[in-house]
Amino acid sequence: MIDVFERRVIITAILVMGLFILAIFYAMGARKADVTECLPYDKTYETARVEQLDKTTYQIYYVARMWNFEPSVAYIPVGSEVDLFVTSNDVVHGFNVYNKNVNLMAVPGGVTKTTVRFDQPGVYKVVCHEYCGTGHQNMQAEIIVNYPKK
Ligand code: CUA
Repeated sequence: MIDVFERRVIITAILVMGLFILAIFYAMGARKADVTECLPYDKTYETARVEQLDKTTYQIYYVARMWNFEPSVAYIPVGSEVDLFVTSNDVVHGFNVYNKNVNLMAVPGGVTKTTVRFDQPGVYKVVCHEYCGTGHQNMQAEIIVNYPKK
């Protein structure tokens, strides 16, 4: 026979778990949270570049190293969807895009990926948020979103 108090504890625990699960679905749906992917590593990720797939789809391949990101400036048209691939050439760095829900790690020998839409024109700062040595606070890049959509 379960004690009344024990039953309350069990019911409360189940309700709290249910709330967590609802919060996850809410984040995925209403807040459009994107789960970061870790991709199998390949040497081609060590070449920093911006690639255009079609009019509104871009890919930026970032290489982090002490103490900068390459490409340091990337130009993207307004309304683009951009895949960000991030790797590191030396130590572990962070990769945070201001005003966007992007928070990745740049890991040597690893690739992290996320996808972002840029609907508002502006200069989006990218900063390293993982302490990586004496130049850490200066380690940044820019994504410039200013081209009109064609
Ligand atoms: Cu790179 Cu801090």
